[in-house]
Amino acid sequence: MEGVVDHHMRKILSASDASGGIDSCVTEFIRVTDHTLPRRVFIRSCPELLGDSDYTVRVQLLGSNARALAANARKVAQLGAPAVDLNFGCPAKTVNKNRGGACLLDDTDLIYEIVSRVRDAVPASTPVTAKIRLGYNERDSYLKNAKAIEEAGANELFVHARSKKDGYKPPAYWGYIGEIRQALKIPVIANGEIWTVDDYFQCREQSGCNDVMLGRGLLAKPDLALAIKAASQGKPFAHLEWAEIATRVHLFFQQTCTAYPAKYLGNRLKQWLHYLRKTYPEADALFNDIKTSRNREQIEKRLNLEIHSRF
Ligand SMILES: Cc1cc2nc3c(=O)[nH]c(=O)nc-3n(C[C@H](O)[C@H](O)[C@H](O)COP(=O)(O)O)c2cc1C
Repeated sequence: MEGVVDHHMRKILSASDASGGIDSCVTEFIRVTDHTLPRRVFIRSCPELLGDSDYTVRVQLLGSNARALAANARKVAQLGAPAVDLNFGCPAKTVNKNRGGACLLDDTDLIYEIVSRVRDAVPASTPVTAKIRLGYNERDSYLKNAKAIEEAGANELFVHARSKKDGYKPPAYWGYIGEIRQALKIPVIANGEIWTVDDYFQCREQSGCNDVMLGRGLLAKPDLALAIKAASQGKPFAHLEWAEIATRVHLFFQQTCTAYPAKYLGNRLKQWLHYLRKTYPEADALFNDIKTSRNREQIEKRLNLEIHSRF
């Protein structure tokens, strides 16, 4: 998720001793225009390519120039990415204006061309995956696009069960994913509006998909993937307490402070707290206290207070 799930967050969420339960992560989207990006761009988005992580990360590309996407995908595969993912779902105005993301949902031929060129450009051993929404203005192009993506040689399809026009507004229309799943042979992974274990079971029932992609729900409940795994296996599960989350929040702030330009200080922390406050009242109080601050010492002091005064 652009603006919040960087490698620091992926590591925190994937840490097997803590939250865990995640099979695979995806980078924030990397925008491709008409040229091949330098290695450092991919490493910056996905330092896990350097090989020191114990979880897998697919590298996600976004753009509409099939030739350039293919060249970048080849480079990403050469850098050792376990899979290349193509974003056909981003609803952001600036992204769509530049012909990237969800606006391509109205151009099935181009989606086909992009996926097939990318598939041809990377070794057969590197999976190519794609992410779509149900359509652009209407929920109407999902079957056409899904079939084109499969025919073009993709290995898996992620479906965010809303149109671009639906934005991020509930509900997610999981039933449509069931139609796609029945029409395709490749694995289909359901996405959208899974905030709880109960949502997971409802999504599974309506879509027929066992596998799901978690977005905001995982940021709101960092142990959601593990809770889903436990519930699927009929095992009991003890949720993470705020004390455990708070230390990770602190770590995330420290890491992101030094990793990004000073003008963005605190942005990623605030994004995460925005989701955490849905689950933890303590995160809500913390968010309210720091939301207008861009001062590192001030935020640090408040975070220290959170950790040391409560526990
Ligand atoms: C702030 C934000 C950033 C996102 N960035 C990306 C992205 O870079 N790539 C992507 O495929 N989806 C991105 N998404 C979409 C999510 O991956 C997901 O498809 C969507 O939020 C629906 O799932 P959810 O209801 O579980 O959050 C983003 C969503 C949000 C809210």
